[in-house]
Amino acid sequence: MLLSVAFFISFSLSIFAQDEASADASGDQQEQAEDSGEPSDDAGASDLGDPDNGKSIFNSQCAACHKPYSDGIGPALNGVTVRHNMEWIHAWIKNSSALIAEGDPDAVAIYEEYNKTAMPPFPGLSDSDINDILAYVEQPKPEPKTVETAGGGEAGASGSGGGVSVNVILGILVFVLVMLLAVLFLVNKTLRNFAEASGVTVPEKTKGKPIWKAFVENQFLLLVTSVVILLGVGYFAYGFLMQVGVDQGYQPIQPIHYSHRIHAGDNEIDCKYCHSSARTSKHSGIPSLNVCMNCHETISEVSPETATEEYSKEFYDGEIAKLYDAVGWEPSERTYSGEEKPVKWVRIHNLPDFAYFNHSQHVSVAGVSCQHCHGPIQEMEVVYQDAPLTMGWCINCHRETNVKMQGNEYYEKIHEELSKKYGVEELTVAQMGGLECAKCHY
Ligand code: HEC
Ligand code: HEC
Ligand code: HEC
Ligand code: HEC
Ligand code: HEC
Ligand code: HEC
Repeated sequence: MLLSVAFFISFSLSIFAQDEASADASGDQQEQAEDSGEPSDDAGASDLGDPDNGKSIFNSQCAACHKPYSDGIGPALNGVTVRHNMEWIHAWIKNSSALIAEGDPDAVAIYEEYNKTAMPPFPGLSDSDINDILAYVEQPKPEPKTVETAGGGEAGASGSGGGVSVNVILGILVFVLVMLLAVLFLVNKTLRNFAEASGVTVPEKTKGKPIWKAFVENQFLLLVTSVVILLGVGYFAYGFLMQVGVDQGYQPIQPIHYSHRIHAGDNEIDCKYCHSSARTSKHSGIPSLNVCMNCHETISEVSPETATEEYSKEFYDGEIAKLYDAVGWEPSERTYSGEEKPVKWVRIHNLPDFAYFNHSQHVSVAGVSCQHCHGPIQEMEVVYQDAPLTMGWCINCHRETNVKMQGNEYYEKIHEELSKKYGVEELTVAQMGGLECAKCHY
């Protein structure tokens, strides 16, 4: 009895500790998600302009040549408001060559320093745009992030922290049990000695039926036990069969460690910049390496603050080198050698051939966000399959989701007829026929 109670307690404790650890971990991640937001209410920068808007202008117009905290083709822009006065900076950004042509000493000096590389003029930027950009680049350099995505860094630490306390509790329990056994044994022994001393004979145990024999002879107990065993086996067999062919959580290692967290998250590159066919076709497709080189002809290394505890700057730079190797780009000479090696991305989401799924219908017509089906891709260092992609998953969503029929002439007639038929204003996909087998099966 005592033993089983102890087991039960320690077991439930360890499960409890696991829950706590995973709750901690998700808490951490949430905190990190909040932390990784830009420090937009930074006092020093906010009197210049709106750093969030600045970031997006900077990324689209300046990032090809400038980085905030380190030199690229042009100088690091952090600290520029200290180096020059505002009037000069505005004049420079709007038209730097004019300033150089005027013979402005600062302008000529920096032009010479950067090997007479001309910076293009930006007459289209308003004064407030420029102030926004400056507000962004003048933000103090963020600390390197410490917590990694799922299962990394601190999650592990807090997990083992929980483990220590459970071990201590287990140790104490075992100790108490051993003590109890010892005490019982001693008590038994002294009682026997006592009985012997006072001449009382302890009756020997009479041998009854062994327990197993009594059990086998009791038909009711046998029946109950076999029903329990059958139900248990059935439960586990069902669970096992239901997960056959379901690859939720599948996270293969890709030939190039391409991080959606860095691209789609930190740098806010639109999903459809790379997965452009999601809008118009059945497939989303994986971008060809030319698309990568639009940016990576100039981005040959990551900035130090991109590095995390798990992945160092050297690791990331090495991954960009793999990309260069694959497209045959010589970064030092800035030419293509013409030697290309295909990159074999490992496919993650894959329905069986007998099921039909169309991206454009869901993304363009229904306006479902990528994250609804693929999870928080912009936070994934390495992509994994977030949804089960089972038939039940598709069907459930079709039962719950309303079709966007307003303003879509294609749906006018069908809406009129069906809303009368069902007596509702909003129609779910299921009511429109989204549960018909042939819609999804060839
Ligand atoms: C095609 C590359 C290129 C782009 C795009 C570019 N710059 Fe430059 N920028 C340079 C170069 C190169 C210099 C160094 C001076 C020179 O050689 O003309 C420079 C210098 C500067 C300077 C002077 C820095 C100092 O410390 O003196 C500022 C400010 C600046 N750029 C702001 C911007 C902003 C803001 C944008 C985006 C709206 C931008 N640049 C886009 C190439 C570029
Ligand atoms: C700069 C280009 C780029 C951007 C931007 C981008 N992706 Fe990707 N995506 C890729 C590449 C390359 C792969 C293949 C490697 C991998 O799986 O990590 C991929 C893979 C994927 C996969 C897995 C495909 C499979 O094999 O099943 C999904 C899902 C995905 N991306 C969704 C998104 C979403 C959602 C966004 C926007 C939040 C996004 N991507 C932004 C380049 C990009
Ligand atoms: C719109 C611009 C853009 C495109 C397109 C782009 N990248 Fe990047 N890439 C970046 C930026 C910005 C960084 C981060 C630089 C930093 O942090 O300093 C980066 C970093 C990287 C890194 C190092 C970090 C990591 O993710 O491991 C690799 C590898 C990489 N890119 C590969 C690719 C591949 C492969 C493609 C094509 C599927 C691609 N990139 C397309 C802008 C781009
Ligand atoms: C309604 C759910 C849903 C939405 C919304 C969705 N996807 Fe998918 N995605 C899937 C399914 C299901 C697959 C597997 C398709 C297959 O195997 O035929 C998939 C596959 C992919 C793939 C692998 C290559 C391919 O096309 O089969 C990529 C990349 C991808 N999705 C990116 C995206 C992006 C980017 C978006 C947003 C623009 C998006 N998805 C929106 C369900 C969705
Ligand atoms: C996020 C919820 C959601 C999920 C998950 C989802 N769908 Fe859909 N699906 C929709 C919506 C909304 C529409 C209606 C689009 C429209 O307006 O035409 C739709 C329409 C369709 C249609 C056309 C139905 C018709 O009557 O014309 C097919 C086929 C389809 N989905 C297949 C799938 C398959 C296969 C899966 C699973 C792999 C899936 N869907 C998962 C929301 C979803
Ligand atoms: C909304 C889309 C959709 C509709 C409607 C739909 N199915 Fe499916 N079905 C799927 C998908 C997706 C799979 C693949 C699931 C997987 O790989 O786990 C599937 C799998 C199956 C399978 C294989 C069993 C399995 O779990 O792999 C059978 C059989 C099947 N469907 C029959 C039907 C029948 C019969 C109907 C009509 C009553 C129907 N389906 C309607 C999407 C659909």
